Amino acid sequence: MKLILCKTYEEMSMAAADEISALVASNPCCTLGLATGSTPIGMYRQLINRYKKGEIDFSGVTTFNLDEYYPISRENDQSYYHFMHQNLFDYVNVPKENIHIPNGEVSDPETECQEYENLLTANGQIDLQVLGIGQNGHIGFNEPDSSLWALTHITDLTESTIQANSRFFEKEEDVPKRALTMGMVTILKSKKILLLANGKNKHEAISALLDDRITTSVPATLLKTHPDVVLICDGEAYYG
Ligand code: PGA
Repeated sequence: MKLILCKTYEEMSMAAADEISALVASNPCCTLGLATGSTPIGMYRQLINRYKKGEIDFSGVTTFNLDEYYPISRENDQSYYHFMHQNLFDYVNVPKENIHIPNGEVSDPETECQEYENLLTANGQIDLQVLGIGQNGHIGFNEPDSSLWALTHITDLTESTIQANSRFFEKEEDVPKRALTMGMVTILKSKKILLLANGKNKHEAISALLDDRITTSVPATLLKTHPDVVLICDGEAYYG
């Protein structure tokens, strides 16, 4: 695992945007795996600025998002569909038809997950998957458990994730209790993985990522089996 240790959130966001810019410049028709949450917002801001300055062109890029709450309307301002449009897609030129986000509105979530996985397979490998990390070490919505799901699936959120995410909702009861998420193998199939983490509250999860063990009780530790992971984090996440 390669480590890029940054002094500030801004620096971290810049380093992450650099990775994406370099990939899109060298492979304009690449596939990006994208993440939501507070962590990548600065990276998306950087990318929007670079796009406005004509430094990056997303016209050939395809995107697949990691996850989405279930059930949730795409119009709900807490949906990841809404998040991605508000924080990136409304401001850059990724073609609409190239954008893929699991659909939290469907009545049959199992079929949606199967179709999402099929679409990913048909598209070919994700060139670069961006990840945040939960305080509990989750990746996407692969929550700590005695076993983990390999492929895209519907899952229950843990109490700690519901609580962590309640900061975005008016009331904790409003946080959806389930989600659609790529599985660990879906994620590990990506050519390259970029994991972003900032803040003291991520230190425990980052420490587990950097020690020698692999455990499904900290799903991020499975990333140790991947040959090309770049961890970009700040001092608080790294040193505590
Ligand atoms: P955060 O979430 O970026 O809002 O901290 C990360 C995650 O839960 O994966």
